[in-house]
Amino acid sequence: MGVSRQTINISAQAGQQELFLATPADIAIYGGAAGGGKTWAVLVDPLRYHFNKDFNCVYFRANRNDITKPGGLWDQAKRLYLPLKAKKRDNPYLDFSFTGAITHTFTHLNELNYEDYSGAEIIGMYYEELQLISETAFWFMLSRNRSVSGVRPYIRATANPRKNWLYELIKWWIGEDGYPIKERSGVIRYFVRLKNNEIIWGDTREELINKFGKDYQPKSFTFIYSTVEDNKILLEKSPEYKSNLMALDDYNRERLLKGNWLATAAAGTYFKREYVEYVNYLPDGVKDFVRVWDRAATKPSPENPDPDYTAGLLMCRDARNVIYICNMVRFRDLPLGVEDKIKKTAEDDKRIYGQVKTILLEDPGQAGKMEAQYLIRQLAGHWVDTVRAVKDKLTYFRPFSTQAQARNFRVLRKNRQDDEWIDPWINELEQFVGDDEGHDDQVDVTAHAFLSITGYNEPRIMVI
Ligand SMILES: Nc1ncnc2c1ncn2[C@@H]1O[C@H](COP(=O)(O)OP(=O)(O)OP(=O)(O)O)[C@@H](O)[C@H]1O
Ligand SMILES: [Mg+2]
Repeated sequence: MGVSRQTINISAQAGQQELFLATPADIAIYGGAAGGGKTWAVLVDPLRYHFNKDFNCVYFRANRNDITKPGGLWDQAKRLYLPLKAKKRDNPYLDFSFTGAITHTFTHLNELNYEDYSGAEIIGMYYEELQLISETAFWFMLSRNRSVSGVRPYIRATANPRKNWLYELIKWWIGEDGYPIKERSGVIRYFVRLKNNEIIWGDTREELINKFGKDYQPKSFTFIYSTVEDNKILLEKSPEYKSNLMALDDYNRERLLKGNWLATAAAGTYFKREYVEYVNYLPDGVKDFVRVWDRAATKPSPENPDPDYTAGLLMCRDARNVIYICNMVRFRDLPLGVEDKIKKTAEDDKRIYGQVKTILLEDPGQAGKMEAQYLIRQLAGHWVDTVRAVKDKLTYFRPFSTQAQARNFRVLRKNRQDDEWIDPWINELEQFVGDDEGHDDQVDVTAHAFLSITGYNEPRIMVI
């Protein structure tokens, strides 16, 4: 009897995924909608070189935390690579080795850290959600895309629609209506980037060399579209995935189900500046004061240039159930600074407004619970509650949004200095489209303050 071997079958799905895995282009951008099998494809792509000891590849995302979020890049990589006997490291680096040498690294790339890669030589450069990576970083990294391994260096990226620099780059493959032009999917074109950063396209390499001379080495480039319709495995395995996409709001349905690069977020869908009416004093008899905190504990740094804010919104209502938005405290600080400011705010609130309930939004998971319990102890003497948010942000925000549209709220305006929170608050609410992009701490605390005053009617939301 011979040695028994387990065979693991990995194969691309016919159609767009196959086209992506087979393209010889130097740079290939894949995607433009959710669920098309993009992450799977970029993770499988380098396996063709996994016996080559000189090979290496790096996966970049704009934000490190997004790499390890459940079901994301790192989770899927483990699912694919561990059965292939790859060795993984989790901390502080995220990487795999297939040949003994580290060959697959997962890291973040942004405007502030790209120069750290100055000396690097990366053969396979992978980007997850390239539309979120800065244009400067992308072009800088192109110069790090080098190889002495015998493997021609290349770049592969997944992307979702966004009308930014990436859209400009792939415009030839996208129709005027914003949808990919099907016949152009996978068609290779060539470009040179001139000293003034201008990009000139050609249909052939020769055409560009003739025009600009041999000093400019044209790069081959392609875009391959994919939508959930191209991922039969997913449609079969989880039919609800598509119905979830269909249930998205117009903007995100256009982007993520249909792959429309020109879809624009309908800012103002859930909140409009014109809804805001001001009062200079709170009327007599206002009650049910709450200050809801969404906490973060990071200051801006090169690794994380735009971290979340800690935000605490004060709200109350009058006898007729009109809602008053009284004040917002918002800042970025380390855990101790956050704790101090929350304590101080609770003292101030008590002095100015009397009884105010402090509500701490709690992260799902055990760590979130323990951390909230700790803060509750620090706030001894105050009335404190915690709320665990388990649903998507839009679900929480809708009840306030409905009342806001009915003009059933007022904003307390005091004086110029105290009112500085108002404009950023209005802007964030107006921009909010529930797409998980950008900051939404102010939306969150508004939503939860309102729910806390009017009662959580959602059975799945746990109020402790
Ligand atoms: N060729 C394949 N063989 C087996 N499973 C596949 C294949 N292609 C995709 N899948 C599976 O389909 C599911 C969705 O694929 P994937 O996560 O790659 O999509 P995506 O385009 O990255 O989605 P999202 O837009 O949500 O990030 C995953 O469970 C993945 O393992
Ligand atoms: Mg993905």
